[in-house]
Amino acid sequence: MEFIAKTINDLDQISKELLKLFGDNKVVLFNGEMGAGKTTLIKHLCKNLGISENTSSPTFSIVNEYRNNENKSIYHFDFYRIENEQEAMDFGYEDYFYSNSFCFIEWAEKIPNLIPQNHMVINIEIDNDNNRIISIAS
Ligand SMILES: Nc1ncnc2c1ncn2[C@@H]1O[C@H](COP(=O)(O)OP(=O)(O)OP(=O)(O)O)[C@@H](O)[C@H]1O
Ligand SMILES: [Mg+2]
Repeated sequence: MEFIAKTINDLDQISKELLKLFGDNKVVLFNGEMGAGKTTLIKHLCKNLGISENTSSPTFSIVNEYRNNENKSIYHFDFYRIENEQEAMDFGYEDYFYSNSFCFIEWAEKIPNLIPQNHMVINIEIDNDNNRIISIAS
């Protein structure tokens, strides 16, 4: 499935569609080059999961925890600066990934062996007209 965001304004509707496609998958990887729009899309998904602005509590530099209006946690990871998988093991990645809470992950390429089997992958590419091509696969 593929969506095209011509501007940031398209992300609200697209994130609603994506949430429907996640099914029971709670772990979602966001692939795409630097500046592709991974964090921006995650922010819109969080909004549609009932999270208001500025409710993020940074626990570690790698993970941000958000709580929605039902007090459910949503975790947002950015592994860009991680040196190796051991670092993720040291902070207890399993407690998050297998918590049945949403885990939205940027730069999962850094921890290829730690990704749970059940997950979705969202790929974001920028085309020549500066549109974001957002595709989802399981
Ligand atoms: N769908 C979109 N349409 C237009 N601009 C966008 C879109 N998504 C993101 N942007 C813009 O692109 C820039 C980078 O976005 P963002 O920080 O989300 O990228 P990223 O993929 O998370 O990058 P990084 O790999 O550095 O974390 C921001 O200025 C953002 O406003
Ligand atoms: Mg980012």
